[in-house]
Amino acid sequence: MKNVVLIGFMGTGKTSTGKMLASRLGCAFVDMDVKIEEEQGKPIPQIFAEEGEAHFRVLERDLVQRLAKRQNAVISTGGGTVKDARNIADLQKSGVIVALTASVDAILERTSTRGERPVLDKEDKGDRRHAIETLMAERKNMYKQANLTVDTSDLSPLQVVETILRFLKSRGLLHA
Ligand code: S3P
Repeated sequence: MKNVVLIGFMGTGKTSTGKMLASRLGCAFVDMDVKIEEEQGKPIPQIFAEEGEAHFRVLERDLVQRLAKRQNAVISTGGGTVKDARNIADLQKSGVIVALTASVDAILERTSTRGERPVLDKEDKGDRRHAIETLMAERKNMYKQANLTVDTSDLSPLQVVETILRFLKSRGLLHA
């Protein structure tokens, strides 16, 4: 099986969907953020604080290059992975790209905890909704480069997974 790569803004459900999808497909699951944290031995907010965003993007780029060489995995990217056009190009070659989207309200609710998402915390100058809207507008077109887009605002994780599975079957990408 080709990889199934989940892209999308923070809080769209890439990790929970990816985990459940991989278990339904019986294949490996790679969460890029978790993998980077494991390899660096520290959480992402600490990487940003100590080494800066540019360094995090180098780590992300390096991981994409390694992941694009493998198959049979569901890969959840970070919300900013697609900012580097080379990343999306490599991931497209390795598999099917699924973009998850959600309304600003849903994202606001799912990302309200501070200290977990440095990019959002930095943009947030007292108005988190505005920060989300600004970043979403900047990135909107990058998330459009997908084979399938699923709006997760009003769907349960199971419904999102079922939608992706139906798509994969319809494209002959699954035998089951
Ligand atoms: C980022 C999103 C995060 C993580 C890092 C940067 C971004 O991943 O990779 O904090 O630039 O949008 P999630 O989308 O899993 O929160």
